[in-house]
Amino acid sequence: MTFPTRDECLALDASDPLAAYRDEFVLPDGVIYLDGNSLGALPRRTAAHLQHVVTQEWGQGLIRSWNDAGWFEAPRRLGDRIGTLIGAGPGQVVVCDSTSINIFKALTAALGLRPGRDVVIGDRDTFPTDLYMMEGATAGTHEQRLISADGPALADVLDDRVAAVLLTQVDYRTGRMYDMAAVTAQVQAAGALMIWDLAHSAGAVPVDLDGCGADLAVGCTYKYLNGGPGAPAFIYVATRHEDATQPLSGWHGHADPFAFTPDYSPAPGISRFLVGTPPLLSYAGLEASLEIWDRVDMADIRAKSLALTDLFISLVEARVGSHVEVVTPLDHAVRGSQVSLRHEDGYAPMQALIERGVIGDFRAPDLMRFGFTPLYVGYADVWDAVDVLTDVLTTEVWREPQYATRLAVT
Ligand SMILES: Cc1ncc(COP(=O)(O)O)c(C=O)c1O
Repeated sequence: MTFPTRDECLALDASDPLAAYRDEFVLPDGVIYLDGNSLGALPRRTAAHLQHVVTQEWGQGLIRSWNDAGWFEAPRRLGDRIGTLIGAGPGQVVVCDSTSINIFKALTAALGLRPGRDVVIGDRDTFPTDLYMMEGATAGTHEQRLISADGPALADVLDDRVAAVLLTQVDYRTGRMYDMAAVTAQVQAAGALMIWDLAHSAGAVPVDLDGCGADLAVGCTYKYLNGGPGAPAFIYVATRHEDATQPLSGWHGHADPFAFTPDYSPAPGISRFLVGTPPLLSYAGLEASLEIWDRVDMADIRAKSLALTDLFISLVEARVGSHVEVVTPLDHAVRGSQVSLRHEDGYAPMQALIERGVIGDFRAPDLMRFGFTPLYVGYADVWDAVDVLTDVLTTEVWREPQYATRLAVT
């Protein structure tokens, strides 16, 4: 079987319109980083920005920085900047809390908007926190129905009892992507609200929340958006739902937080989805990376993402197709920005790859997962990564006992 040569990949890198962004990231020598779908790489500018926030805004500005350095406005300011990446007009996104907590707020807000309906739908295959939070948010009040790639399908369980549907647009294991516009329309036609988890979409694929008429959405900033480990999440609430009630009625969501009244009165608009004091140092990491994202066209990201994943898939099939099964869809329309390979073990080969400088990750029970981040991954990286993978699989070096020990984080 023929496959592209390394020189052809170098030629693609030379004509890549996004190639210059690579220098904006710190990437260790000898590492090919294919795990930006888990933790994005460090932008070069982040350290200096954090240094500034720590030494100047905190060190010198002290408490005054809540006003003078824009700390108080950070959740809305950063929310609007993320909004431009996910098709959300201003005033509908805030950066706050974790994705898990935002799922809880989004779900309970949605359920409150559909009184009298007693069913929620989730996805059995999704990242489990979505299911755990759904359980917590609906225990004793709503029946849960779970769809799956193996069935039942959404159409099988959607009826006039359903209040809300929570789905992750890009599946964390397989990289399969839902058609956001079609699914949103299907859910709304049944009178339910549609909540999207964009953990593997934001900064990975073009998203048009307003255009699709989505109701609510949540997502991470530490993956493709490079905000840093544990960077705050975001929540989107369509303007038509901005009077919805969310149950975590903390003082940053109050209409007048500094009036210090004993009663809770929710702020107008998206601010009511805030809860407590924002962790400003984490916001600073995200603010630094968004300066890069402000300059990026998501259409360029998508074009290169598909080219990189196509290249990876074709090299894998040609060189190690008998050792692994590509579980990520080949159809562009339903593929996110990762490729997952099923292998009889999965864990040990990934450890062997990591030791050789190719960093992906493992998702139980048997998937080797590779994320493709067009800002800092190039075509020759893909070629080199598959070369190392070929060596690891064909020599069976992964069977050596040191690769079998499971670490806490896989
Ligand atoms: C679909 C999805 N939702 C949520 C999360 C994480 O949520 P949190 O940031 O609260 O840990 C992940 C993490 O990978 C995820 O894949």
